[in-house]
Amino acid sequence: MTCISPPAQKNWWKEPIERVELIWIGIVVVWGLILTLMMPVWHVYGEQNLSTETYRTTPADYQAKAQAMVDEHFVRTEGDRQFPVVAPPVGSDVYMVARLWDWWPILELKEGQSYRLHLTSMDWNHGFSLQPVNINIQVLPGYEHVFTVTPNKTGEYSVVCNEFCGIGHHNMVGKIHVVK
Ligand code: CUA
Repeated sequence: MTCISPPAQKNWWKEPIERVELIWIGIVVVWGLILTLMMPVWHVYGEQNLSTETYRTTPADYQAKAQAMVDEHFVRTEGDRQFPVVAPPVGSDVYMVARLWDWWPILELKEGQSYRLHLTSMDWNHGFSLQPVNINIQVLPGYEHVFTVTPNKTGEYSVVCNEFCGIGHHNMVGKIHVVK
């Protein structure tokens, strides 16, 4: 028989299902249910699965808020490009701007304290990937994503863009310092 000849039995789709196939279908259904249930379970018990609130914004509005924070809580500049390092007060709203191809500004946060971190993009779809702790948020233009962060360990963290955003994507790395 070749694949172009008709099936020997015409109503082949009405044949009883093989036992092995039924077992596999059962496994797939159960596994699918487990994975579906894991989403709410992980949301509640996963320590790094953040709930973000999302609001409409515009690049101009957001830039103004970020600039106000930088002006008020500037501490020094850092790196070849003299990026501002900002140490906002504990519990305050802190802003990071994603744009081709920077994360701006550099934040300096205190260990064990909570902040409301705001993110948006000025242009393209970018990804906020906090390394090495691996927290990931998709950052879209026109939307302000807000979530609470409580850094629990001092050190220097990298913010790596993990959504391909063009020729400078691989250089789009920002920084967050966590200090005592
Ligand atoms: Cu921004 Cu890749």
